[in-house]
Amino acid sequence: MVPELKVLGIAGSPRRGGNTDLLLAEVMRGAASRGAKIKTIILNDLKIAPCQHCDACLETGRCQIEDDMQMIYDELTQADRIVLASPVQFMGVTAQTKAMIDRCQALWARKYVLNTPPLGNRRERKGLFISVGGRRVANLFEPSLSTVKSLFRVLDIDYAGELIFSGVDEKGVITKNPNALSQAFLAGQKLVED
Ligand SMILES: Cc1cc2nc3c(=O)[nH]c(=O)nc-3n(C[C@H](O)[C@H](O)[C@H](O)COP(=O)(O)O)c2cc1C
Repeated sequence: MVPELKVLGIAGSPRRGGNTDLLLAEVMRGAASRGAKIKTIILNDLKIAPCQHCDACLETGRCQIEDDMQMIYDELTQADRIVLASPVQFMGVTAQTKAMIDRCQALWARKYVLNTPPLGNRRERKGLFISVGGRRVANLFEPSLSTVKSLFRVLDIDYAGELIFSGVDEKGVITKNPNALSQAFLAGQKLVED
């Protein structure tokens, strides 16, 4: 049994019970099966304004917009593992996900302007990315992967890999892939064991 790690799942799809939701739930179940404390937040249920580029965070390291993103900053600070799930929309992450990512500019400011750790001095963090896309085209996940890797790099979260599936469109069709959900469960176990 690993010491109790906190795993934060972030669901970026607007579709409840959709493909990325199902994969995320399995990753979290896998992590919990190894003794981790899990929590999932659903971005679509939250109020997260887009970054206004007001630059207030450059002075304070804090975003001055008082909305649900303030809770997410706290959750990120407390988490040891972050599992971010977003389907592909127009070749990138969903608007819900991107709004959250852009608001991490305040954490960028902490690190690169104020020279403080973006998420405090806590222990090592790791992050996993989950995505699906309806089409089967080359480079389907590249823009999302660039964005998410950039987020994790800025937040000093080690990139632990990705679970990505193309040709997955209809709601819930990921369950027809014979390996996807078991792969997700195992990825959740591995995430808290490594
Ligand atoms: C607004 C919108 C844009 C989309 N853009 C793409 C796209 O660029 N490429 C693609 O392969 N699939 C695209 N899709 C399909 C979704 O990625 C696909 O339906 C996926 O299974 C949704 O995952 P979810 O069930 O977790 O929401 C788009 C879907 C929507 C609603």
